[in-house]
Amino acid sequence: MSGTEGPAKLRSMRRFFLRTFGCQMNQHDAEKLGNLLHHQGFSPSSSAEDADLVLIHTCSIREKAEQKLYTEIGILAKLKAGRPELVLGVGGCVAQQEGAKLLKRFPVLDFVFGPQNITHLPAMVARAAEHQRSLWVDYDEDPQRRFELPERHPEFESVTPGRAFVTVMEGCDLFCTYCVVPKTRGREVSRSSGSIVEEAQRCADRGVVEITLLGQTVNAYGRTRPGQVADEIPFAELIRRISEIDGIERIRFTSPHPIFVSDDLIHAYGEIPELCPHLHLPVQSGSNRVLEAMNRRYTREDYLDLVTRLRAVRGDIALTTDWIVGFPGETEAEFEATLSLLREVKFVDSFSFKYSERPETPAQRRGLIPMDPAEAGKRLEALQLLQRDLTLAAHQARVGSKVTILVEGTSRRGVDQQRGRCEYNRVVNFVSPAAVQAGSIQDVEIIDATPHSLLAVTALTAAAPRSLELPIV
Ligand code: SAH
Ligand code: SF4
Ligand code: F3S
Repeated sequence: MSGTEGPAKLRSMRRFFLRTFGCQMNQHDAEKLGNLLHHQGFSPSSSAEDADLVLIHTCSIREKAEQKLYTEIGILAKLKAGRPELVLGVGGCVAQQEGAKLLKRFPVLDFVFGPQNITHLPAMVARAAEHQRSLWVDYDEDPQRRFELPERHPEFESVTPGRAFVTVMEGCDLFCTYCVVPKTRGREVSRSSGSIVEEAQRCADRGVVEITLLGQTVNAYGRTRPGQVADEIPFAELIRRISEIDGIERIRFTSPHPIFVSDDLIHAYGEIPELCPHLHLPVQSGSNRVLEAMNRRYTREDYLDLVTRLRAVRGDIALTTDWIVGFPGETEAEFEATLSLLREVKFVDSFSFKYSERPETPAQRRGLIPMDPAEAGKRLEALQLLQRDLTLAAHQARVGSKVTILVEGTSRRGVDQQRGRCEYNRVVNFVSPAAVQAGSIQDVEIIDATPHSLLAVTALTAAAPRSLELPIV
């Protein structure tokens, strides 16, 4: 193909389809990819069949997540067999991990790029239009470049109305022995605080009321590193500055690491009304031997101490967490220690996973042998059963209280109900005599609870004569 046909093909490429797996950071990266393509003249399509460009944005956290990529490539290879002009790209954590191997193994792929190379997407697309394949997985020599993105277009926001993600840092320097993230996302880099506050301000200007700050170890923000920006500030101070923006009513962040929960951050829960009283603080295990083998850098006692100090400042704070069960060598007694920590803290909810061996992690390099999957499965089930009981109890304890929700839209449960999330980050279905606009804040009273959600009424409904039969979810 000649050089003049290439740009013509690029001009004829109009529609893209993006399939995303993984965490909220990946979800937000997908928003950034959509924006970059929008500025390159693309518009989104609702299916791969209608698209000129298809991107798969991958996750590698557990083996199952990585397998999803290979299933997807199989489907798209068939599509491309009938439409050879279709351009296919793979980004995200599997792309970073596998790099050149992916391009070699799958000739249907036009380009492969890692999370640090998102801003190079337009160049990769332009090259693909000239039938050149590209691999873009180098760790970026300018760590701030990944934060320099074009103006956000509301069409690509993946969260419900009124909300927005804002990246504050990327990468991880902690090297938990089971985890691929330090490899796939690279070293910890904090973004300029000026640029973060500016982006939050622009979100507020277009009606956003809730900001979720993102980073792999988000509360490591502001640790001074050579080559990083001059205006980093402590994480709690960053939260304070964002809380001062007019229109921002709620601030959340994910995922924090226990070792970076500073006194400042704990006190922020008592001082900054916009900081939601919910903290997702991954603990992984209740056994000190396992925590050490995981290289988590805290003990069960350290974690419990944090919980006590947080509750002293904000008694009603809702704590949620992540667990890994069946870490290599986990004994029955060590698993019992996990159950007992869950009982002791009474987490409102948790995500729990069976240990999955990942390539080139310290655990894999040390040859740690994964335990029998059937036994790990039983442990996972036991933990999830206990969590279900605790979640239900925590929800029931809210019945009769008033919460404030950010309205998301109609409930999945039926036309009569709307849905939102309260400050404690629980799903609240509610009944209201009139529809409440998605993206607005609404005070409600909790009248019932299940393990999955809360049921509420607005003040107006509560004042009305109660002939209404409320559907219980
Ligand atoms: N940065 C966050 C976690 C990101 S990964 C933190 O430090 O807590 C999200 C969750 O996936 C982790 O908290 C852990 O529970 C789980 N996870 C990570 N690697 C895993 C693996 N190899 N097998 C099973 N679960 C894993
Ligand atoms: Fe992975 Fe540990 Fe870093 Fe979290 S802190 S991203 S679990 S290495
Ligand atoms: Fe997955 Fe990468 Fe996030 S491995 S969980 S997409 S940081």
